[in-house]
Amino acid sequence: MRLAVLASGRGSNLLAILDAIARGQLDAEVVGVFSDRAKAAALDHAREAGVPATALSAKGYPSREAFDEAMFSLVDAVHPDLIVCAGYMRLMSAASVNQRLGRMINIHPSLLPAFKGLHTHQQALDAGAAVHGASVHFVTAELDGGPVIAQARVPVLPGDDAERLAGRVLEREHPLLIATLRELAAGHIRLNKHGVQYDGATLDAPLQL
Ligand code: GAR
Repeated sequence: MRLAVLASGRGSNLLAILDAIARGQLDAEVVGVFSDRAKAAALDHAREAGVPATALSAKGYPSREAFDEAMFSLVDAVHPDLIVCAGYMRLMSAASVNQRLGRMINIHPSLLPAFKGLHTHQQALDAGAAVHGASVHFVTAELDGGPVIAQARVPVLPGDDAERLAGRVLEREHPLLIATLRELAAGHIRLNKHGVQYDGATLDAPLQL
């Protein structure tokens, strides 16, 4: 499976993918890493692993659509089977997303549909959630609203603040993303008009990985 990874920052999820591939735990190849931020550490991780790394700033593009067309023409040029948004913090235009339905996933730090958008750990604490976590979902034009493939649950503990909770969720994000990618690489998971299919049957709840 040829993976293109989109990342805006630290790149720990990208590192988890690269490590899993290097250890033989994931039958995939990262064929390109793309960022909207030239200083993203994710680009350094890619280069250290010998993966082509490309930064494209949205500055100078007249619209979200124009930027996404430019970005995705670079992504398409590496012919990915799957596009992985791993901490890619830009909203994407509906047209670009809709052209790639079922071929683009995102990891999000909450148990979707709860706590979409930013500051998810603080949102969970403010709501008094007892359980929090992370989700991997197919990307659709609705922000953080696409069909959920898999989730990892993390208890909220007494004394948690957003930073502590984020750290424990991140520890679970990495194995969640790798396990989901293994299922995708093995061809078990597809998206169709009925939702997420697992070996041809519609998933009625996200996988717990
Ligand atoms: C991760 O926690 C990821 O779930 C989150 O950004 C972080 C990126 O970390 N993504 C979002 O919030 C997307 N809405 P990383 O750069 O170390 O992988």
